[in-house]
Amino acid sequence: MKVTVVSRSGREVIKGGIELKDSATVSDLQDAIHARTKKYYPSRQRLTLPLPPRTQGKPVVLNPKKRLTEYCDGDANNLTVVLKDLGMQVSYSTLFFWEYLGPLIIFPIFYYFPVYEFLGYEGERVIHPVQTYAMYYWCFHYFKRIMETFFVHRFSHATSPLSNVFRNCAYYWTFGAYIAYYVNHPLYTPVGDLQMKIGFGFGLICQVLNFYCHLLLRNLRSTDGSGGYQIPQGFLFNIVTCANYTTEIYQWLGFNIATQTVAGYVFLVVAALIMTNWALAKHRRLKKIFDGKEGRPKYPRRWVILPPFF
Ligand SMILES: NC(=O)c1ccc[n+]([C@@H]2O[C@H](COP(=O)([O-])OP(=O)(O)OC[C@H]3O[C@@H](n4cnc5c(N)ncnc54)[C@H](OP(=O)(O)O)[C@@H]3O)[C@@H](O)[C@H]2O)c1
Repeated sequence: MKVTVVSRSGREVIKGGIELKDSATVSDLQDAIHARTKKYYPSRQRLTLPLPPRTQGKPVVLNPKKRLTEYCDGDANNLTVVLKDLGMQVSYSTLFFWEYLGPLIIFPIFYYFPVYEFLGYEGERVIHPVQTYAMYYWCFHYFKRIMETFFVHRFSHATSPLSNVFRNCAYYWTFGAYIAYYVNHPLYTPVGDLQMKIGFGFGLICQVLNFYCHLLLRNLRSTDGSGGYQIPQGFLFNIVTCANYTTEIYQWLGFNIATQTVAGYVFLVVAALIMTNWALAKHRRLKKIFDGKEGRPKYPRRWVILPPFF
């Protein structure tokens, strides 16, 4: 069969098209495009069917595992596909590794090195126990996230645009430095002993629960990340769709109860808003997939992220 590859403006990307076997899959087509263009490796390509003229809406995205003939309408020997360049890609684990590495390094720099002397502070710096515990708590959190990235999560998307590395690093590294600056500051005023213990104790319990949530999510997929989206079950997932975000938010609350800085609370609010936005989208997606029609299970009634509010 002959496949014509065009850009979104309708320009032919590969002159003369590509000849493939009738049994070829979308993945074979992606390899062929890569072989001809050199630049567009498969994860950089987004292949869709052209929209009929003067129609609005989302085009059909080609599934790499499906055969090309499944997308032929009428003429099984000719197919036209639209290629969108998604730009340079990195794996999800690379993206997560770099965004978490920054805070993991930045916080100890403020704790161990004479940063404040360098910034002009002249008095002697006395380190309070809460600052030491905060440093361990913080490092444990980001080390856990890196370990989960490599050994727990089963991502469904192989890659993410390279630009996301810069955007996400800007977010995590800046907030990391902002919080580390205030928590480790020589003029930092510690909270009472009981408040510190309650905060760190509660936060640590939430971190362990967050890890457990990630194990439950992991078990929804097979080892190669296939299996799509399933109804999360067990433990907190029986009452809330994004229990992993719930425990993440509460563990930051624990850290803030113990350390009590404006910077920490600002981060908590921003992170909670971001996760709420994602949780709403995930909740909607699960309700759409599990609509209770044609034999599909119906998504049970659940809170989205922060019971008993929403
Ligand atoms: N502090 C912050 O600002 C902040 C922000 C975001 C996240 N986090 C932390 O980082 C962790 C990971 O974040 P994330 O956004 O990657 O979490 P996520 O998307 O909710 O889930 C983690 C993994 O589980 C998979 N998964 C989720 N729901 C699933 C379902 N219904 N069926 C099958 N698999 C499913 C995801 O698959 P996909 O690959 O398909 O997505 C992903 O691989 C969070 O739980 C949280 O602890 C912190």
